Amino acid sequence: MASIQHSILYWFDENKRDLPWRESKNPYSVWISEIILQQTRVEQGKPYYDRFMNRFPSVFDLANADEEDVLLAWKGLGYYTRARNILKCAKTIVGEYGGSFPKEREELLNLPGIGEYTAAAIASICWDQPYIALDGNIIRIVSRVFNIDSPFSYSSGKAIFKTMGQEFVSKDRPGDFNQALMDLGASICLPKSPRCDQCPILGFCEAKKINKQHERPVKLAKRKPINRFLLFFVHYKNKKLALIKQENSGIWKNLYLFPHVEYPSEHQLLEAKEGLDSFVSGIHLLSHQRIHYVAIKGERLKKQEDMQQELVWVPVKDIENLPIPRLMAHIFEVWPNAKTQD
Ligand code: ADE
Repeated sequence: MASIQHSILYWFDENKRDLPWRESKNPYSVWISEIILQQTRVEQGKPYYDRFMNRFPSVFDLANADEEDVLLAWKGLGYYTRARNILKCAKTIVGEYGGSFPKEREELLNLPGIGEYTAAAIASICWDQPYIALDGNIIRIVSRVFNIDSPFSYSSGKAIFKTMGQEFVSKDRPGDFNQALMDLGASICLPKSPRCDQCPILGFCEAKKINKQHERPVKLAKRKPINRFLLFFVHYKNKKLALIKQENSGIWKNLYLFPHVEYPSEHQLLEAKEGLDSFVSGIHLLSHQRIHYVAIKGERLKKQEDMQQELVWVPVKDIENLPIPRLMAHIFEVWPNAKTQD
């Protein structure tokens, strides 16, 4: 590990970017820069950083600010939770730590808005504590150098990244090492077209050796939501509603649903509801499904027996005690008889 660390630090000494937050190792400025750069590119973040530091030069100035002023300084950066957390965190640092950042990792992690990445960045840059700061750039480099084929988003994958990252990080100059990887990731070890021919650690890269650098890091494909088209029947008789228990697998397994028919397309769903007494329709979004639904009063249902679903008749007043999915609760709520039950 020593020679790869040496190559990275040597490259950094020759090529490091001149960035305003690198002028000091003051934890206040390092912290503000790291929060700004979490969802913002370096070039875009620089003027915000300068403006923020002019407006709030110390953690005491920030702790005394109104939230509105902090939000104003943040305007344009988006993700305003970051700005609110910055103010909360400044108040904690002044109120509980007399204005000095705690140096213990666990204490840093307890501060508002400071997660593992930010804690590692502050601890390594300001106090040379040997923590790898796993941001997007560093995850990419670690995945390529060690040819890690698990996604970082899996907890098992994350554990591998942490173990390898901790071995990787220089114990002498961890802050410079992390920032070297950030610069390397921004200029050479690029996501789509890595410039391997210019890379100072080309000879150490396990992914490059087997030509897999483009396949690292392994990302989980975002599943496209599937569309489903469902017609629900709210069938009411003798103060009872007909439900079915979803026996098979699927998102609603073991929950109670209104009896329903599923169609393969929106067109067929709309055709089926024609002439029926529908009282609500819409699209219900789940993490991987878009459920297009229509609910009708089931009294009009002619071919109930065709549905092949075993009905359970439940008194209306007991419905709320049954496990029903949110969509069923919504249909029940807007069902015109819900209030009067007649
Ligand atoms: N991205 C996040 N933190 C950074 C830093 N300290 N230097 C350069 N890029 C960064």
